[in-house]
Formats: sequence, C-alpha cells, structure tokens
Amino acid sequence: MATKGTDYECSECGRRTPQWSGRCPDCGEWNSLEEVVPEEDEPRTTREPDDVEACTLQQVSWDRRPRMSTGTGEFDRVLGGGLLRGSTILLGGEPGVGKSTIVLQSLGQMAGERKCLYMACEESLPQVKLRARRLDVEDSSLVVSGETDLEAICHLLEREDPDVVVVDSVQMVSAEGIDSLPGSLKQLRTCGGELIRRAKKRGTALILVGHATKQGAIAGPRALEHLVDAVLYFESENFQALRVLRAVKNRFGPANEVGVFEMASGGLEEVLNPSEFFLSEREAASAGSAVTSTVEGSRALLLETQALVVPGAYGTPERRVTGADRRRVSMLLAVLQRRAGLDLLDCDVFVNVAGGVSVQEPGADLALALAIASGFQDRPFAPEMVAVGEVGLGGEVRGVGRMEERMKEAQRLGFERVMMPAGVRVDGDDMDLDLTRVKTLDQALAAAGGS
Ligand code: TYD
Ligand code: MG
Repeated sequence: MATKGTDYECSECGRRTPQWSGRCPDCGEWNSLEEVVPEEDEPRTTREPDDVEACTLQQVSWDRRPRMSTGTGEFDRVLGGGLLRGSTILLGGEPGVGKSTIVLQSLGQMAGERKCLYMACEESLPQVKLRARRLDVEDSSLVVSGETDLEAICHLLEREDPDVVVVDSVQMVSAEGIDSLPGSLKQLRTCGGELIRRAKKRGTALILVGHATKQGAIAGPRALEHLVDAVLYFESENFQALRVLRAVKNRFGPANEVGVFEMASGGLEEVLNPSEFFLSEREAASAGSAVTSTVEGSRALLLETQALVVPGAYGTPERRVTGADRRRVSMLLAVLQRRAGLDLLDCDVFVNVAGGVSVQEPGADLALALAIASGFQDRPFAPEMVAVGEVGLGGEVRGVGRMEERMKEAQRLGFERVMMPAGVRVDGDDMDLDLTRVKTLDQALAAAGGS
C-alpha cells in the first residue's frame, strides 16, 4: 500500500506516476516501475540576499574559445566546427552502428596534439588495441583505461587532466553506494550528472556514449539529454555501409546538422560528396522515382524518393515507409486521393528514400507525392528534375526555406530543372536552371512531364 506522497518511477524512461502498474504507461516496459520516496525539500537559508550575483549582459566577459578539430571533417561539422572546451556531448546509436569506432578514430588522431582519455568501459584494453590497429591509430599517445567506477574516472580526470575525455559507454559506469545496476536511471543520473559537472568545471570536452533501443530513442541516457550541450545520434538504415551522424540538439552549432560516413575495413570514411553518393545508383528514367533537394543543418542534400504502387491483394492495403515519416506519407496518400483524383485506396504502397538516409523536413513532400503518383501511373517523370515543396491538406504546394541553397546543389549535380512552389521568391539569376512553379499538386502532376 502506497504511503502518501509516494511516486513510482520507470527505471527505463523516467516516467513518474502516482499509481503502480505492471507496465510503464509511457515506454511500455514491463516491471520497471520502482517506488521513489520524494526527497524532503529542505529550505535553503545559507545565502544572504546581498550575496546573490547578477550583472548586465554587457558586463559578461566572453573569451572566444577555439574549437578542437577531431581530425574528421564530417564529425567536426556535426559538432558545429569541432569540439569546444568544456562542452558535453551525448553520442547515441544502436549497438554496432560505429560509436566506439568514431570516437577511437577521432581520439587517436587528436592525441598527437591534445591530451585525450578514452574510458573503455565495455571492452578490454587488448580489444581496444586491436581496434586501434585496424583504425591505424595504435601508436598514439591516447590514454586508455577500463575503469567503470565513477570515483575512479573522476580520479583519472584529476590526474590526467585531459582536454578531451570519452566515456564509452555511460551505461556501464556505476557509483558506489547506489543500490541500482549500471545503466539504470538512478546510476545514469548520478554518474552522468557528476561527469558533466566535473567536465564543465575543468573545461574538459566530454563525450558520453550511450546505447539506443530499436525505437530510435536513446533509451536510458535520454535522461541526460537536457544536461548535455549536444545530442548526436548515429544512424544507419539496415546496417548498410552508410552511416549518418545527426545533431538532434546542439547549443553551440546548428541543430539537425548531418555528417555522412561509410563503414570500411579501416574504419569510418567520410563521404565528402553525399548527394552524389545518394544518387549514384539511380536509374534516371524509372517510374516511381523523384529527386528532392533537402536541407539538413548547414547543407543541401539531394535524395531520391522512390515509390512502388501495386494493386492490393486483399484486406487492408499494405503501407511501408523507409526513410520518411510514415504519417507524412499517409497524409500525402490522402491528399493525392482527394485532390488529385488518384485512386490509391486499395493499393499497396511502398515508399523508400534511397541510400539509407531519412528525410524529416516537409520540403520533401512534393517529391514523395510525385514518386507515388509516378509509381501509381507507372510512368517515369522528367528525369532531370528536382522537386521541392511542402504539400498542404488542400493539395496546395507551399513554400519552404533556403531555396537558393537547394537549387545550387541541384545545379551542381547536373540537374536542369527545379519544380518549386509558385509563391517562393528566389534569387536564382546566377543559376542556369529551368524553374517550374506550381501552386497545386494537380499542376505539379501535369507539369512533371516525362514520357
Ligand atoms: P562499433 O564501433 O563497436 O559499434 P558501437 O560502439 O556503436 O556498438 O562497431 C561497428 C561495427 O563496424 C562492428 O560491427 C564492426 C564494424 N567495423 C568495420 O566494419 N570496420 C572497422 O574498421 C571497425 C573498427 C569496425
Ligand atoms: Mg561500442
């Protein structure tokens, strides 16, 4: 029987409820609710009113701190131009995606110029050495340690005084005196919180590696998201060689910035020209394909959207979406049905963004809609065209931002035509592109051309 004031907290996602149940109402985990007794709020009376500091913004001094290059351009880009002293970063991703690889590779390269500490909490030191050999950084002066105890890591921080420290992974670290397993919310909060606090105080750059679940959330370590300066997420679609590092939060750089890598035998290699990479396997004049120009962080990327539309066999039609938002695609299907008269209701629809990357911005709507229409009609649209625009519920094609950058990328990759919303003003004088402006999805389908 719960006493007054008792709460239950999910050890997986941190959700609090006043009532116990066998399954967490938020994350669905079984048997994860634990009783927590609210801490007594002790009134703090140690501060005198005059002893509280505040000043005007003008008076705040700020030294422009230089960023430290990780030695990998794409990693630097996602960080906002390199690692900042005293900044704290959470690096999440599914097991095997390459988190340990990217941090070891970067630390190995940095260790020549900076003092770096790698806490290998999951692997033995010989294993780390073996990996370092594959990555060609085995001879570096990187300091490595297999300690997993919070106190030990704190001692090492004091003794080694590194510029950069990586804890791989934070779920393995535990603090003595907390009767909870490593990786539990309690341990994470305590250990992660303490490491972040110390790193900030010392001006050390700290990267906490955390495992994510299949659902894509950084499961336990999510509790640390609001404490860190940046949350980077390493993604890969079906474990193809392609890896995308995405900044989902960044206090010191653009959010949503992406870095693109390829996993090779000697570690992660940067993909310097991602648009080219994503379009490399495109069959130009095929039905069910449309190219869009999307902006991710500070750059434009060309991506091919694909759709296969076939008559449904029986029962509920199949709808499968890879690399795009499923709800967005459902909406586009409904709009195509109602506003453009395509009878998609009984069709099985498969949508895919080629190359294993995902698009999350509405600027890709128009291309997705065109790909579905082209797939439905089984006729290829103009192959040299890039389509950009958000599609509204009325079938109208709406404006999106940063059109010039998208157009430049299209031109750079040799496209001749851009289909775009009628209402967007662009300064494209210096571009040799044929612009097809459309107001509605109907117009877009009519103008998409092709044979
Ligand atoms: P890893 O970096 O250990 O992933 P994480 O720390 O996110 O769990 O492993 C990445 C995968 O990449 C692993 O399955 C082995 C593979 N790999 C390569 O293909 N080439 C390499 O050079 C290395 C080091 C790993
Ligand atoms: Mg690892």
